[in-house]
Amino acid sequence: MSNTASATDARTPPVAVWQILEKLRGQDLVDWRVAPLDERPSPAERGLDIGFPYGWYALEQADFVTIGQVKPLRYFAQDLAIWRGEDGRVRVTDAWCKHLGAHLGHGGKVHGNLLECPFHAWRYDGEEGVVKDIPYAKAIPPQVKRKCLRTWPVTEANGWIWVWYHPDQTVAPLWDVVVHEEYGDPAWTDYAMHEWIVYGSIQNMAENGVDVAHFKYIHGTADVPKAELRWGEWGRGADVRAQMGTPTGVVDGLISYDTMGPGQSWVRFRGISETLLVASLVPIEEDVLRVRYGFVQPKAQAEGPDAGLARALVRDICKQLDQDKVIWDRMRYEPNPIICDGDGPIPQFRQWYSRYYAVSAAAQP
Ligand code: FES
Ligand SMILES: [Fe+2]
Repeated sequence: MSNTASATDARTPPVAVWQILEKLRGQDLVDWRVAPLDERPSPAERGLDIGFPYGWYALEQADFVTIGQVKPLRYFAQDLAIWRGEDGRVRVTDAWCKHLGAHLGHGGKVHGNLLECPFHAWRYDGEEGVVKDIPYAKAIPPQVKRKCLRTWPVTEANGWIWVWYHPDQTVAPLWDVVVHEEYGDPAWTDYAMHEWIVYGSIQNMAENGVDVAHFKYIHGTADVPKAELRWGEWGRGADVRAQMGTPTGVVDGLISYDTMGPGQSWVRFRGISETLLVASLVPIEEDVLRVRYGFVQPKAQAEGPDAGLARALVRDICKQLDQDKVIWDRMRYEPNPIICDGDGPIPQFRQWYSRYYAVSAAAQP
């Protein structure tokens, strides 16, 4: 999780990146967040050709595919097809039909729980990855009677459709998606969503949280926030206690962020305004990352007299991602960084994060 600690003070003087951001208001800012970034160096030149870390990723919100719908997807530098069968379950497979290579997600049809190719109607089972039916043939070729199409482990939680990514498709999920009780609680709002495209890697984004020195120079916090870091087997987190400036005075705030794998992270804010931020971070290409932030808040607070404060907190968190994006879009992954004594535990973070790479050459300092 990035930059959460700097949510503590939004009213410090402008810092370097504001030269870019201060001109952007309203729709211009929303457009800038997802705009193409042309003429960038290749992923190899920027040290981003290190593969994707494995884990569960929240690809889309649950209503992205309704029963009987099929859609194309592109994540992890691959074309995929996603559909929801009559039984209500979502399937995700590789996109290309084994027959003559049509894209199953463009014009395919859901047939019961099977996905029918748009070209010649071969019907695939999305769990087994086999062809179950060819309406115009007497016999199904043996090569497609056994597993021939990659199927991705799928689960639904927190209003999102998750897939398990691992470069070795035989590796089953190593942990479960963490369920948040606030989501779906009638006393809490539904997600307020915000979206960015970051032209960088998910690891660079994750490193931001332990890069304590940047909070001052990028986010304009007065002091380096003090964080108690937690390092688990597959997840890590931090509790940041901070004095938060509000229009009515300073309050004690607590920001807790947690991750489970590279693709699941969430942040709980307590103090000014209770908020749960659920982040979806999914690589599209080696140097393109789709980032969505969903915020839920207690209705009593989001719709009550303190609604302004609740909205201001969300705005401030989004602003910090804007500030980091200016750097992330252009930075290179420096595999051998020179670290000074004021830096946070960046080498420790990289050592720890290297567990998510099947071939772990990339992450060492
Ligand atoms: S290409 Fe898919 S059925 Fe022919
Ligand atoms: Fe940051």
